[in-house]
Amino acid sequence: MMKKLGFVFAVLLSYLVVEIESICSRGCDLALASYYVLPGGTISVIADYLDSSPADIVSYNPELPSADSVQDNTRINIPFSCDCIDGDFLGHVFSYRIQTDDTYVSIAGTRYANLTTPSWIESNNNYTPTNLPPGGDLNVTVNCSCGNSSVSSDYGLFITFPLRPGDSLSFVAQLTNVSASLLQRYNPGADFSAGNGLVFIPGRGENLLYLSFFIFIEGMVNAMLKLLQLGKLLVSFCQRSLCDFLAALRINNWIMKIVGTCDSAMIK
Ligand SMILES: *[C@@H]1O[C@H](CO)[C@@H](O)[C@H](O)[C@H]1NC(C)=O
Ligand SMILES: *[C@@H]1O[C@H](CO)[C@@H](O)[C@H](O)[C@H]1NC(C)=O
Ligand SMILES: *[C@@H]1O[C@H](CO)[C@@H](O)[C@H](O)[C@H]1NC(C)=O
Ligand SMILES: *[C@@H]1O[C@H](CO)[C@@H](O)[C@H](O)[C@H]1NC(C)=O
Ligand SMILES: *[C@@H]1O[C@H](CO)[C@@H](O)[C@H](O)[C@H]1NC(C)=O
Repeated sequence: MMKKLGFVFAVLLSYLVVEIESICSRGCDLALASYYVLPGGTISVIADYLDSSPADIVSYNPELPSADSVQDNTRINIPFSCDCIDGDFLGHVFSYRIQTDDTYVSIAGTRYANLTTPSWIESNNNYTPTNLPPGGDLNVTVNCSCGNSSVSSDYGLFITFPLRPGDSLSFVAQLTNVSASLLQRYNPGADFSAGNGLVFIPGRGENLLYLSFFIFIEGMVNAMLKLLQLGKLLVSFCQRSLCDFLAALRINNWIMKIVGTCDSAMIK
């Protein structure tokens, strides 16, 4: 009896451990990258770096009159898919064609507007920092978020937002029209005044309602599957315990047959 109990706990425990070990099991179809446009930046070049199209970018930035007009020193949102990479983290790998004089520092800070860091690019590629071959393809990984149901399931769309010098919690809250407390809950421990680093901002979009609806449904289905699994485990545990109990009382075999759940192998 104790052994069986131990077994059930071991099964439950391994189930929990598996849950913790893989950080993500899937991503989400849509995330946004907040791209800070430096002087000279154009939508077509930015679209090229981030595997998007000028038309797509305009559709996510209602304040942009057209694809030819983007103001320097403003942020624009670029749509991308947020993938679960190797079960380890949420991100998207962009393929970048290396140009003459590129360095990890210039690629991260200028071409990808600090949406990634030199060391994060370097750790996902084989090239040494001093040997980036022009014309070669580089994997540029940008992190993202699909939300956190323990904070709120109202938000399904997240903006990867590189902090800049001069930013602060209240400034970002005002800029994004999201309350400071919600920003902090989605980014526990983040220093919004650090001048660098990524934070994730719950976004508002036309399809937000639609997105959160599917996240809600997905959450329900997952919860139901887990309950079913637990239920099955409990039922089989109870059946086995009942058999053990009856066997211990040395009750005649015909009672077992009436109970009907104990097979002969189980009754020694
Ligand atoms: C990226 O960060 C560096 C260092 O803080 C800064 O000089 C540069 O302007 C940033 N680039 C963008 C596009 O914000
Ligand atoms: C992206 O996420 C990974 C895993 O959490 C982390 O190690 C890495 O530092 C992050 N990169 C950036 C640029 O924030
Ligand atoms: C980029 O990623 C792909 C797929 O993981 C890998 O095969 C390739 O070697 C990577 N490229 C570099 C330059 O490391
Ligand atoms: C979700 O939020 C909870 C509570 O704030 C936190 O403990 C947990 O680490 C978060 N999960 C992820 C994947 O960020
Ligand atoms: C800011 O958010 C509030 C609700 O939280 C909304 O009523 C308001 O229209 C939003 N303002 C803008 C400019 O999006």
